[in-house]
Amino acid sequence: MASFDLIIRNGTVVTAVDSTACDIGITDGRIAALGTNLGTASREIDASNRLVLPGGVDSHCHIEQPRPDGSWNADDFESATTSAAFGGTTCVICFSPQFKGHGIAERAEDYHRRAKKAVIDYSFHIIITDPSPRVIEQELPPLVAAGHRSIKMFMTYDPSFLTDAEVLTVLAAARRNQAFVVVHAENHEAIKWMTKRLEAAGLTDAKYHAWAKPAVVEREAVQRVIALAELLDVPIQIFHVTCEEAAEEIRRAQGRGLKVFGETCPQYLAFTAGDLDRPGQEGSKFLCSPAPRSKADQEALWKHIRLGTLGCVSSDHAPYQFEGPKGKQAIARESPFSKIPNGVPGLETRMPYLLSEGVRKGRIDLHTFVAVTATNPAKLFGLHPRKGSIAVGMDADIGIWDPDLSRTVTNAELHHAVDHTPYEGMTLTGWPVTTLVRGTVVMDASSRHVAPGFGQFQPRETYPLMMPSGRFPTPFDPHG
Ligand code: URP
Ligand code: ZN
Ligand code: ZN
Repeated sequence: MASFDLIIRNGTVVTAVDSTACDIGITDGRIAALGTNLGTASREIDASNRLVLPGGVDSHCHIEQPRPDGSWNADDFESATTSAAFGGTTCVICFSPQFKGHGIAERAEDYHRRAKKAVIDYSFHIIITDPSPRVIEQELPPLVAAGHRSIKMFMTYDPSFLTDAEVLTVLAAARRNQAFVVVHAENHEAIKWMTKRLEAAGLTDAKYHAWAKPAVVEREAVQRVIALAELLDVPIQIFHVTCEEAAEEIRRAQGRGLKVFGETCPQYLAFTAGDLDRPGQEGSKFLCSPAPRSKADQEALWKHIRLGTLGCVSSDHAPYQFEGPKGKQAIARESPFSKIPNGVPGLETRMPYLLSEGVRKGRIDLHTFVAVTATNPAKLFGLHPRKGSIAVGMDADIGIWDPDLSRTVTNAELHHAVDHTPYEGMTLTGWPVTTLVRGTVVMDASSRHVAPGFGQFQPRETYPLMMPSGRFPTPFDPHG
């Protein structure tokens, strides 16, 4: 009888700390052995000249998420998670939304139904846009207890943003229920004011999106939410940091010993505000929030990835069509920038972009790449030690990568359901050639090998990283 279900032989296994030439024995979906001369298996994969990496964990992606105006993301769970798998990602955390005046429990149930089409594993953040007593006291506790252990807050976007008082209410509820908090931090009133002025002055093209929300509005909100979280002693992650100013605020908070974590996304490393000014309506393909910044900010983001200030690089995959009557192009042609849907697709290109532009160009090392794309998000969101690395006992979520494979990105070859990619025409070197989830090959070469529904919900228990520190600015415990 074979010793294992599967052996991956002859590869270089890379984790956030080590690089080892060894084989991986997999049984019942888990890593059962690491070593050489592992014996026999029912199936073998030869990984000669390949990197064998932990499957990516993308802790920030918008999949089949309804918007308050009744529109939807372009992807459903099947297309989005297929696309993720072809980009080396094996687990996503996406968003169960709330609309003002409505609850969160029914939405989460509906979201679970939709997610049954996933082909890789998944978990949810619960978005709170209306922290009513019913939502906070009745609906939230059972949802967190069922493993939805993170809450997302918006400080901007009408009608999703929370006031400072509401932010405090959500932070306090998170601490009570032992949930982690993630934040979209931009100053809502400042953006609204600037948008009105710009549009009144006739400055309505996509490029003025970046003028309406410059780095200062991000830096201010990052500083403010850190202060509010410090007041109540609640660990937080700042989503999609775009600029040096915001990263420096996070760094200063970390220096004070606060549990403040930072995330950035490939689009902020790849594109600048100048891309919003591409001819015709092409600029709208790069429109996302916060806005793309400058080359200097890109260098600062790379630096803060190296320093660990920004410990996660997620996709913030938020796909909206370009073509069609409701697409970005038509809206950009007919309406001011503030009406263009915010967001860019990026599930499939996240890891290849970072390997190619980060590791191959010497900006980060391979271990940092593994840390920010898999290990750190798994740890920060309570998926570790099930996911996020390669060790005996962990889920066999693995990407086998050809580090020398060069491909020029074309949307036609990506697997998402949106009609464009901002990375069109970019040549990236280093792509996954096989992706396994729990020991099953989900994709290789150009084929997907599992049916919709193979992905499993990953409930998340409490874990040390998300626990408060027990320190308040005064002797008074505001939660007491
Ligand atoms: O522009 C973006 N980032 N759209 C997605 C929603 C969000 O703000 O994260
Ligand atoms: Zn956001
Ligand atoms: Zn987002």
